Amino acid sequence: MHKSEKVWLTISFGMIMLFMIATGYQAFALGMAPPGGMELIDPQKVDQTAPFDNPGITQIGENEYEVVMTLQIFSFTPMEIEVPAGATVHFKLTSKDVVHGFQIVGTNANGMVMPGHVLNMTQTFTEPGEYLVLCNEYCGIGHQFMATTITVK
Ligand code: CUA
Repeated sequence: MHKSEKVWLTISFGMIMLFMIATGYQAFALGMAPPGGMELIDPQKVDQTAPFDNPGITQIGENEYEVVMTLQIFSFTPMEIEVPAGATVHFKLTSKDVVHGFQIVGTNANGMVMPGHVLNMTQTFTEPGEYLVLCNEYCGIGHQFMATTITVK
């Protein structure tokens, strides 16, 4: 093998290893992996399955809340969410029908909510205001009307 061939092989292999280490470090050490995971649910029985049989907002800490939410064509349940400024909100989301999106405009919170899967996502609301929540996955004829707001006081 030619010497420069060896050099370039070594460089490209080194770059691949470097990128894989950087990606792995971000995903596992910095927690930058996509949200969600392996939590499954029977999409036919969302209404009978805890905690989705009782969607709503619960205070679980000093300024910490859990929001259990179902998404369905073309709405979010519950529609009314209000938390104080600085609140950390743990969202637990699932879909009752097709794939929907859950994007809190102006934040990094953005997920795909699939039937049969539970999506967990945490967001801290430091600034008071009305946060627009959009479905950003095309889900049918009423997709463009699928929105709600989160009020931070
Ligand atoms: Cu739900 Cu688009």
